[in-house]
Amino acid sequence: MDLNIFKILLTIFIFIINFLFFVNASELVKGIYFDRIITIVLGNSYYEESMNDPYLAYLGSQGILLSNYHAVWHPSQPNYIAMIRASKSGVLTDFNQDVEGASLPDLLEEKGISWKAYMENYPGNGFNESHSGDKLYVRKHNPFISMNQIRTNSSRFIYIVNADRLKKDIEDGTVPQYVFYTPNMANSGHDTNVNHASNYLNNTFIPLIEPLLINSRTLLVITFDESSKYLDSLTNYNHIYTVFIGPNVLKSMKHEDDGWYNHYSFVPTIERNWNLSALGTGDDTESTPFNDGFFLDII
Ligand SMILES: *[C@@H]1O[C@H](CO)[C@@H](O)[C@H](O)[C@H]1NC(C)=O
Ligand SMILES: *[C@@H]1O[C@H](CO)[C@@H](O)[C@H](O)[C@H]1NC(C)=O
Ligand SMILES: *[C@@H]1O[C@H](CO)[C@@H](O)[C@H](O)[C@H]1NC(C)=O
Ligand SMILES: *[C@@H]1O[C@H](CO)[C@@H](O)[C@H](O)[C@H]1NC(C)=O
Repeated sequence: MDLNIFKILLTIFIFIINFLFFVNASELVKGIYFDRIITIVLGNSYYEESMNDPYLAYLGSQGILLSNYHAVWHPSQPNYIAMIRASKSGVLTDFNQDVEGASLPDLLEEKGISWKAYMENYPGNGFNESHSGDKLYVRKHNPFISMNQIRTNSSRFIYIVNADRLKKDIEDGTVPQYVFYTPNMANSGHDTNVNHASNYLNNTFIPLIEPLLINSRTLLVITFDESSKYLDSLTNYNHIYTVFIGPNVLKSMKHEDDGWYNHYSFVPTIERNWNLSALGTGDDTESTPFNDGFFLDII
């Protein structure tokens, strides 16, 4: 072969390889509604109390406020399990309990969609105890570690990380498409109060993730694990504050939705967004996906 032709072919070949790698590295798996979802879960506040907080009320006016959203149980832990399994899966207390079977991360991995659980004060390395020494990290607020298929597999539990990692992932442009964020017991408001949690959002968390919201199809969901009221009526059971925030959501004409939703609504919505297979835990029967209309301006 003529040397020049060989050089040209080689150059084209290298160009194609680079192009493929570049595209692979930078492209997110497109979702119908969003390309990334970040869920942050605060602790123990009832709807009216949250809405009385000036910053949470402000956020409610900036996104879509779900004014009829409910946690599914007391105490905390089953609510976290529900968010990734669309089922309490037999977990009804805060004690360590190991859950057999697939959860949301299994479905995401199947479609090549990246995920990470960012846990404040998490010691890392598959740590599976009830709490860290300082008790700021608690296992009951980390549903991923209760999944046998994740906890017992070192190539999967590495996606449960100390939350400090998020800053670096933002700088490196490697933030996954599914982000679950659990603040520590103080920042979540659990051991403090809802105003402490909202100050934490306003001064620390929102400024940190704001760059992600600006130029990408990223949806931020702020919710609470459970209401601090244990004795509310059955019709208003476990009523909590939840808001959807994102640059595209902000264009929505309607800022409040009083449709009845709960923690089971996440899994079927995320399944639909990325055409995932169904978990079969109740996600297709017991739970109501979030209204498609929310996302109209993102599509
Ligand atoms: C949010 O933080 C900003 C800047 O620190 C501050 O000016 C503002 O008053 C805070 N908002 C609320 C409702 O606390
Ligand atoms: C918890 O982690 C330790 C290692 O730190 C491991 O030996 C043990 O098997 C784990 N327990 C469970 C239930 O996965
Ligand atoms: C552990 O996870 C990896 C990556 O998902 C998977 O390929 C492997 O089969 C899993 N191992 C077991 C024992 O399930
Ligand atoms: C959704 O996934 C199923 C099965 O994995 C596949 O047959 C179907 O074509 C997919 N639909 C879209 C719109 O990608």
